[in-house]
Amino acid sequence: MRVTDDIKYVGVNDHQVDLFEGQYVVPRGMAYNSYVILDEKIAVMDTVDQHFGEEWLANLAAVLGDRKPDYLIVQHMEPDHSANITSFLGAYPDAVVIGNAKTFTFMEQFYGKNPSMKKQIVKNGEELCLGKHVLKFVFAPMVHWPEVMVTYDSTDKVLFSADGFGKFGANDVEDPEGWACEARRYYFGIVGKYGLQTQKLLKAAAGLDIQVICPLHGPVLSEDLGYYLGMYDKWSSYTPEEPGVCIAYTSVYGHTKAAAEKLAELLRAKGVKVAISDLARDDMPEAVEDAFRYDRLVLATTTYNNGIFPFMHTFIEHLTEREYQNRTIAIIENGTWAPVAGKLMKAMFEKSKNITFTETTVTIKSALNADSEAALEKLAEELAG
Ligand code: FEO
Repeated sequence: MRVTDDIKYVGVNDHQVDLFEGQYVVPRGMAYNSYVILDEKIAVMDTVDQHFGEEWLANLAAVLGDRKPDYLIVQHMEPDHSANITSFLGAYPDAVVIGNAKTFTFMEQFYGKNPSMKKQIVKNGEELCLGKHVLKFVFAPMVHWPEVMVTYDSTDKVLFSADGFGKFGANDVEDPEGWACEARRYYFGIVGKYGLQTQKLLKAAAGLDIQVICPLHGPVLSEDLGYYLGMYDKWSSYTPEEPGVCIAYTSVYGHTKAAAEKLAELLRAKGVKVAISDLARDDMPEAVEDAFRYDRLVLATTTYNNGIFPFMHTFIEHLTEREYQNRTIAIIENGTWAPVAGKLMKAMFEKSKNITFTETTVTIKSALNADSEAALEKLAEELAG
């Protein structure tokens, strides 16, 4: 894959991974990107996952020909990108490894001391001249780990963006949903808690003339960059991306499911866009993504052990730990003898900013009846209004 005349892609595609980062299903695989900048000096941008060392080194050798790299730039120490630092240095022991102070602390924690490694510790804003290309390192702490830095090549106007602007999915599989769906699930799943830090990075990026974004996952972005930057601005500022209702439910015997589906039907009949998830059976990160995508959220669940049904409890934790805010929430609770889930769910959002609860809360006693159906209609009207 060509990036520019001097920048080559040497990443790999992973079709074996069962759960990315130990929790995310990736039905279209995963890409671990790595790049080479060919100049008077040669820089390699990051390595790849541990299972792809040989393939990556072969990709690298094919691009290098009879030359050798001068630098390995480590933008992020998470092992999906750093696992082959040792094998790289085995092949190219004279290369200088570039990172910041935290990079090298984490490197030693993961891979042990390497006294023969030549290292260069850079500061935020420091530049490295390769000849024609001048690279500037911009620290991006917590997007997604504290040592993360991104790199701007002012010659080709390329931003190497680390995990930022990444997505789930291998690069050799076409994604029929386009970029946004799996990029959004990736962003909110992995970086979503760090909106403030992502906003800081976007502000730094706004001062740069960027024509190409090279993330560590997913495709190289070279057209319509305003679209991708705009999406990241919305996501990281917790602004709903579009009007719509995310309905997330759990159901033990199907009665709460019936209420959730009835509400979806009522809302759709009013022209409202609806996404509905069974939190026990559907992909939870997809439901998290939908909750952040739309401006309204309906939580429907049962009281369980005098608390909230477990999958719903976990779902709300996923939202609140990612600083869920700026949304309207409606509650549907079900309980046969002492329904308390509604009150407890509301309490879980106590520390969340700018949350409005609908006036209507629907309480179901075991199964829908005329009263609770009427309440659902009232809720649909309120949500659609
Ligand atoms: Fe792709 Fe945070 O590692």
